[in-house]
Amino acid sequence: MPTMEPYRIKVVEPIPITTRAHRERALAAAGYNPFNLAATDVTIDLLSDSGTGALSAEQQAAGLRGDETYAGARSYYRFHDVVHDLTGYPHAFPVHQGRAAERILFTALLKPGQVSVSNTHFDTTRANVEILGGQAVDLPCQAAKDLDDDAPFKGDIDLDALDAVLSGPQDVAVVLLTITNNGGGGQPVSMANLKAAASIARRHGVPFILDAARFAENAWLVTQREPGYEHHTPRQVAEEAFRLADGCVASLKKDAIVHMGGLLALRDPELAAKCELLLIATEGFRTYGGLSGRDLEMLAQGLLEVTDPEYLRARADATSYVAELAQAAGVDSVRPTGVHAVYLNAGRLLRHLPPSRFPGFALATELYLAGGIRCAELGSLYLGGLDDAGELVKPAPYELVRLAIPRRVYTQSHLEYVGETLAEIAKDPERVPGYRLTYAPKLLRHFNCRLEPV
Ligand code: F0G
Repeated sequence: MPTMEPYRIKVVEPIPITTRAHRERALAAAGYNPFNLAATDVTIDLLSDSGTGALSAEQQAAGLRGDETYAGARSYYRFHDVVHDLTGYPHAFPVHQGRAAERILFTALLKPGQVSVSNTHFDTTRANVEILGGQAVDLPCQAAKDLDDDAPFKGDIDLDALDAVLSGPQDVAVVLLTITNNGGGGQPVSMANLKAAASIARRHGVPFILDAARFAENAWLVTQREPGYEHHTPRQVAEEAFRLADGCVASLKKDAIVHMGGLLALRDPELAAKCELLLIATEGFRTYGGLSGRDLEMLAQGLLEVTDPEYLRARADATSYVAELAQAAGVDSVRPTGVHAVYLNAGRLLRHLPPSRFPGFALATELYLAGGIRCAELGSLYLGGLDDAGELVKPAPYELVRLAIPRRVYTQSHLEYVGETLAEIAKDPERVPGYRLTYAPKLLRHFNCRLEPV
């Protein structure tokens, strides 16, 4: 049966159409760092799927109904009811975005020297663990290491390794499963893996928490790929997933399709009480947590819309289409394709560039110069080890470029434009120059570094 997006466009926004000469000037002025570009210089923005989605008419309408009362706003109760129905957690706190939930939870849960174990910590999540003196340990499953492996659940945590860490000498404060696994190529976690990880954590008496930023997209892939779930709705899968855990942190800028918002929800009243104090001290009173009533209404509505199977199917199809266009142009991406992004294998395309010349960064840069397409490198520039002179001494395991697809924003012809631009580059990849760092700050390097072509 033919399928398509289950919505049409009511409001549009112009996007800048620029010349290559303009982009060359803009990028040089930005120190070749796409984070320094102004949006007015970007034609198709695939830097992030976070906070970049299009609101629905119902979300806008809900926003107008926002109650801006300081304490006990009507909008808080709507938020609370929607989150409670979805997750089953009795304690639900709004926060301004995902990393605020991480900071509050880890501050309440983690003592210096303790460990947080995950399939893969997102970078802010890792930073929040480390800032508190903890250690973030990633235990991705074996299949995740092979980018070309079509295994359906490469977001899974390695269960044997998890059991070994929990049985070992390290003091583990929390087990955190990221669904879908953004740091691991946007790959989903199976329900079987969630169940097994939950039971291992429970056996060791360690809280089991979800990083549920893309819970609906994970649920969609479970309905498509996991035996036994083919007749479930994504909403049923999501409800079951939340109920396996003791709580969640979530950036609602992804699967609540809002521009700003986050969630911390918990089962344990004592832990919730500790978090509530931190919330009030640093985010806002427990019934708004750094958000306006308008935001709370819009994200509650978004949480209801996001599990619509027709929406998820259309979104997954759009992302797969980008991967197919890339493949047809001779550019491999991490397999199997997930939902929120395509991770291009730049290392394989730009074989003439060693990791020290940052092939992922070079491909991302070329996409901008050739077509005004902005995207993020996930390779040695982001993850590699540098010496004091800024030379790469420890390359990242892969040189990837993430094309993150904003929700409900770009049409099929926009995506075809991305594919065509990529195809132009792939015709003659050896023309793409490498890059050298001219400025590399010690912390949060990729946001602030500057480079030049060599
Ligand atoms: N966890 C995951 C899995 C994420 O992908 C993100 C953000 C966060 C936590 C932090 O949430 O941004 O609301 O504070 N990911 C964005 C991205 C930034 O582009 O992947 P936040």
